[in-house]
Amino acid sequence: MRVGVIMGGISSEREVSLNSGKEIVKYFNKEKYEVVPIVIDKKDDVIEKAKDIDFAFIALHGKFGEDGTIQAVFETMDIPYSGCGPLASGMCMDKDITKKILRSAGINTADWLSVKSVEDIDYDYIEKMGYPVVVKPNCGGSSVATNIIKKKEDIESAVTLALDYDTEVMIEEYVKGDEITCCMLNGKVLPTIAIKPKEGFEFFDYTAKYADGGSDEIIVKFEEGLQNKIEEMALNCWKVLKCSVYVRVDMIIKDGVPYVLELNTLPGMTKNSLFPKSAKAVDMSYTELLEAVTNYSLLEVR
Ligand SMILES: Nc1ncnc2c1ncn2[C@@H]1O[C@H](COP(=O)(O)OP(=O)(O)O)[C@@H](O)[C@H]1O
Ligand SMILES: [Mg+2]
Repeated sequence: MRVGVIMGGISSEREVSLNSGKEIVKYFNKEKYEVVPIVIDKKDDVIEKAKDIDFAFIALHGKFGEDGTIQAVFETMDIPYSGCGPLASGMCMDKDITKKILRSAGINTADWLSVKSVEDIDYDYIEKMGYPVVVKPNCGGSSVATNIIKKKEDIESAVTLALDYDTEVMIEEYVKGDEITCCMLNGKVLPTIAIKPKEGFEFFDYTAKYADGGSDEIIVKFEEGLQNKIEEMALNCWKVLKCSVYVRVDMIIKDGVPYVLELNTLPGMTKNSLFPKSAKAVDMSYTELLEAVTNYSLLEVR
């Protein structure tokens, strides 16, 4: 079977994707699969470059990668691909839609306001949520243009900055607590990881995420009641957002209560990324994880 590892792409996370892709190619089981790297520089590259593969392992992030569009292209080309389908990918890419669905399903997530221009900013509503708030692009990723805003006067410039990256911006209640992530494979929750930005990093920002040693990531198990609650919430997220194969659910635990931040339908997959770390805690190697993702994807009826 000829596996194409699709990497690069046109989003702000291109560099992250190239790193993931390289590593996926390196560690893929080459005794079983013929593995070819496919670097995408512009959207329609995929049609030409991916036409001779039997399976697409998508190592893209952000727009035209994680948002369901490339998944739909593979559907059209009749090529099986890794991860969630177009609908779940699209919904999870849009933080506003994700949170609306979570709310409707009774899954706890912070209050928020979504704006398309600075004129849309509802300061009374922000006042009700209370400062600080987090301003971020609605379909962002890797914490790009994400800022914690402590006072009214700074809202407008933060929204303007985020609008450079997206047509819609989210202003969200700041949840002060411990950040965790639940990696889910084929509808099952893998061990929970706690993420602590190291001193000097205000939150889990771009540098903290990708700089070596920018954060401490450890496998955690909370007391039974909370741990069950977290896992149940992750599973409910998976269900209501119609996920498949694998997904990472990010949460913040505040005063013993979990809040869902977002779902990542194409979680980072370098060897040291959170997902491979979580899999390793159940004795699944990086290479085995890549194979499991491939096999579960091939079993999907799209
Ligand atoms: N409402 C919030 N409260 C506290 N921290 C937040 C909040 N929103 C985002 N953050 C911080 O910013 C990071 C990135 O935000 P996130 O919503 O996960 O967007 P993305 O990862 O797509 O850029 C989170 O990992 C978290 O550290
Ligand atoms: Mg995130």
